[in-house]
Amino acid sequence: TDGVQELLLSRIRDVPDYPKPGVVFKDITPLLADPKAFTALTDVLAEGCARHGATKVVGLEARGFILGAPVAVRAGLGFIPVRKAGKLPGATLSQAYELEYGSAEIEVHAEDLQTGDRVMVIDDVLATGGTAGAAVELIRRSGAEVAGIAVLMELGFLGGRARLEPALRGAPLESLITI
Ligand code: PRP
Ligand code: MG
Repeated sequence: TDGVQELLLSRIRDVPDYPKPGVVFKDITPLLADPKAFTALTDVLAEGCARHGATKVVGLEARGFILGAPVAVRAGLGFIPVRKAGKLPGATLSQAYELEYGSAEIEVHAEDLQTGDRVMVIDDVLATGGTAGAAVELIRRSGAEVAGIAVLMELGFLGGRARLEPALRGAPLESLITI
C-alpha cells in the first residue's frame, strides 16, 4: 500500500488557521473528488474489514459516513450509522464523551448491533480519540464486538492512540497516514 499512501497524502489539503487560528485543518475533499484516490482508499479499508473478520461497518457522523458507506458496499457488509444525538428516530443507545470544550453525545439504533456482530469502525481522523472511544463503548454496550478501528489519518501529536489503548482491549487501530 506504499503507493496508495503517497497518493492519499497528496490529495489531503492543509488549510491553515481553520477552524481557528493556529490549527491546520486536514481537508479530504480533494481526495473524495479524485476517483482513483477515493477508490484506492475504499479498497484498502474494505480489505481491512475482511482481514479482521468484520460482519458490519460503523461510520461516525459526518465524515465517517462518506468513507464508511462505500467501504461497507465494497466489503459486502451492512452499514450502520453512528449519529450525533437526536438524529435517529428509533430506540437508541447513546454515549457521551468529552470535547476540548464541553461534551458531546453519539447514538446508534439499538437494533442495528447485536451479540455476535464484529464491527469495523471507520472515520476520517483520529485526533484526541474521544469520538472513536465513545464508539467503542457504544458497540460493546450493544453486545457486539469491535473488530477494529480504521481511520484515514491519525494526528499522532494529540496522543489519541495512547488514550484509546486501554479501551481497545487488543482490537486493532489502523491508520493509513500518521501526521
Ligand atoms: C472530527 C473528525 C473525527 C473527530 C476526531 O469530527 O471527523 O470524527 O473529529 O476527533 P477526536 O479524535 O478528538 O474525537 P467532527 O465531529 O469535528 O466533524 P464531522 O461531523 O465533520 O465529522
Ligand atoms: Mg467526524
